Amino acid sequence: MEKGEICTEALFMIDTLSKNQKKIKQYEILFMQMEELMSSRENKISNMANFAAAVKENFDFFWVGFYLVESSDLVLGPFQGPVACTRIAKERGVCGLAWSQEKSIVVGNVHEFPGHIACSSESNSEIVIPLIKNGGVIGVLDIDSKEYDCFDEIDQLWLEKLCSCLISVI
Ligand code: SME
Repeated sequence: MEKGEICTEALFMIDTLSKNQKKIKQYEILFMQMEELMSSRENKISNMANFAAAVKENFDFFWVGFYLVESSDLVLGPFQGPVACTRIAKERGVCGLAWSQEKSIVVGNVHEFPGHIACSSESNSEIVIPLIKNGGVIGVLDIDSKEYDCFDEIDQLWLEKLCSCLISVI
């Protein structure tokens, strides 16, 4: 390996590290805001609407919102961003899969994900977190980005923490 190549690699690592540190700091601040914002005295739609707005505003994601379980479908709930599909069947799309598997799903390139439901052609990556309350999935948090590979394990960890905060008040 040439001297120049080592330098480029080191700079890339430093850049990635500082991006991650910045992201963690942003999530820490957002988590503190969310603890203040979420209230068990408010109804669940108000809490979910403010949750979506706070996440969208802090990270400028393309679409942030909820789909809520209604019998065998997920139905569009409070969201921030462009209009979206209103109903998703269980096991369909990234949302339906997160629901049936009861686990978070990170998709780096939605165009390569079999069964992805494209509500907008501008979305390129996605993360879906199931909302689990009293042992069952009551809905999912869905976030879309125009960037490819926008979400990683840091996003998953913090978004799951944020969702736990929300679940305690809905
Ligand atoms: N892409 C999702 C559908 C919802 S929209 O992205 C808002 C899916 O595949 O489940």
